[in-house]
Amino acid sequence: MKLRGLLTLALAAQVVVTAAVFLTSDLVTGTAEFGTAQLIALLASAAVAVLLAHLCTRTIETWQQERTAEQLAEQAQASAQMMQAVIKTALDAFIQIDESGAVLEWSFQAEALTGWTRQEALGADVVDLVVAEPLRAAFRQRMARLVPELSDTPAGMRFEVTLVHRNGERILAEAAGTVSRIGERSIINTFVRDITQKRAAEEQLIQSQKMEAVGQLTGGIAHEFNNMLTVITGTIEILADAVKDNPPLATITKLISEAADRGAALTSSLLSFARKQALQPAEIDVNELIEELAKLLLATFDKKIEIATKLDRAVWLAYADRGQLSSALLNLAINARDAMLDGGRLTLTTCNVVFGVREALAVGAGYAGDYVGIAIADTGTGIPQAILERIFDPFFSTKEIGKGTGLGLSMVFGFVKQSGGGIKVASEEGRGTIFTIYLPKAETSTLRPTGYDDRKIVGGKETILCVEDDREVRHYVTVQLEGLGYKVIPAADATEALAIVAEGTPFDLLFTDIVMAGSMNGRELAEQMVAARPSLRVLFTSGYAYDSLHAQGRATMGAPLLRKPYRKAELARLLRRCLDTAVDSAGDAIPTPYSVQADVEAFLRRQAAEDNGKTRSRK
Ligand SMILES: Nc1ncnc2c1ncn2[C@@H]1O[C@H](COP(=O)(O)OP(=O)(O)OP(=O)(O)O)[C@@H](O)[C@H]1O
Ligand SMILES: [Mg+2]
Repeated sequence: MKLRGLLTLALAAQVVVTAAVFLTSDLVTGTAEFGTAQLIALLASAAVAVLLAHLCTRTIETWQQERTAEQLAEQAQASAQMMQAVIKTALDAFIQIDESGAVLEWSFQAEALTGWTRQEALGADVVDLVVAEPLRAAFRQRMARLVPELSDTPAGMRFEVTLVHRNGERILAEAAGTVSRIGERSIINTFVRDITQKRAAEEQLIQSQKMEAVGQLTGGIAHEFNNMLTVITGTIEILADAVKDNPPLATITKLISEAADRGAALTSSLLSFARKQALQPAEIDVNELIEELAKLLLATFDKKIEIATKLDRAVWLAYADRGQLSSALLNLAINARDAMLDGGRLTLTTCNVVFGVREALAVGAGYAGDYVGIAIADTGTGIPQAILERIFDPFFSTKEIGKGTGLGLSMVFGFVKQSGGGIKVASEEGRGTIFTIYLPKAETSTLRPTGYDDRKIVGGKETILCVEDDREVRHYVTVQLEGLGYKVIPAADATEALAIVAEGTPFDLLFTDIVMAGSMNGRELAEQMVAARPSLRVLFTSGYAYDSLHAQGRATMGAPLLRKPYRKAELARLLRRCLDTAVDSAGDAIPTPYSVQADVEAFLRRQAAEDNGKTRSRK
């Protein structure tokens, strides 16, 4: 438009000038003929025309140049804005550097990822900002190789790097980089993504899948094995009683009994590891448990090992299986002892912790929330980085053959996970190791019960409805119970038990296996019976607990559980515990006390038997 206007103006000006020139020359010469004056006028007009044309061309050229510059500036601004928008919207951090490593651009996600602000980062050396001191030289070498490599791959490259946050935390990152050339300069553009959490989750998943696979395998076998052991450990006492006046035979029964104990310890570890152990979670005062444990360790460990406790007096109650927790802590303590053959210090610590999702994930705990932490620290040999990943694997042991089965930490791991908790290990070679287990905080607190003697075998005269689907175990339990003075009504499954109840046969306690063949399991049977008779005492037994039962929370409805295989003394103790349990005004049983002593003693007995067994087998 502008161009046409200008040309029209120039043309009109030329016509006016030519007409004026002719008119003036007519007036001056007084004639209309073409003479010198007209020639001069025509030349003057032509000169004006040339001048005008020149002027027009200049104006047009300048105007076109301005327009192009304007357009270029607009385009540059649009593309810069677009780039900023992409950088800002990207989930990943954007870092732009030159060949020397100096930072040219640092997005706000980069600020969040590394802890360094844009202002601090611009112009600084990227390696100094995000690479740990000892790795810087190697990283620079790697970067020098990266530039030519990137230049040869226009599509860019993806690689993993370990970076460090300003606060020293390690960040595992995935980076995608490209190189662009501006004149002689090479500019490196990288998008960086934090994959620390993702990797931790993947590792957890792989670990739990691995554990699950081995668990499936061992769980089923251990279940059957437990039933057999229940018969052996139970009946051997009857035999021992019968041959006590015949020393050679008495020695043999003792050997069988010890072997059965070892078998029981092994299946128990396997079940724990497979997370199929029949757990009976309860509220635990971890300080009390650790104080008792510390006393026992002090009495049993070599004096070269100093034992210290650092207990948080305001620690919450934890929710877990007490017996299993003492075994887990003992396993950790024994590992610590074995790592301090020349002496050292074992420190037991308790504390409250509140986990966010990230922290919970890092220790493999079920969910964000409140946990009770128990740490066992030693000043021993430490664990080499190379084997750190494998220590929880079943049967992984660095101890010499016959010294360790490699099931200790597997048991701890399985137990902690099955309890909904987590575990963390920090170790430095030559300096020592800290294992920290996190257990879920108990939701409520209950009355602390009063004294109870665990060790005396006491029978009774009450009637017990005994439901057990394994014929041999049923027979054995009936003999045991009758031996303790009880009257027994045996039943092979839930249907048979309900039929007995329907007949109106009186009984005082239901003693039932949890996992049973048939349409109803032990828990469902007990629920149905308790619904009809709320004050009914129930004692469960199981060698195996399905996850689905535990998923429902309290697999045993708060009733005690006798873990298979069991001995007469344990059976007698738990029966009296159930039958003598006072009932509060709401009809709920008031819990009886627990002593870590019995568990620890049993554990140490098993260890001693195991050691004896190994010594013998080596001979
Ligand atoms: N506190 C520790 N210090 C140094 N190394 C340890 C520590 N705890 C565990 N380990 C290492 O982890 C391995 C596995 O431990 P784990 O308790 O599972 O088996 P174990 O102690 O060898 O045998 P088991 O406990 O079955 O008798 C050990 O052999 C040892 O190498
Ligand atoms: Mg061990």
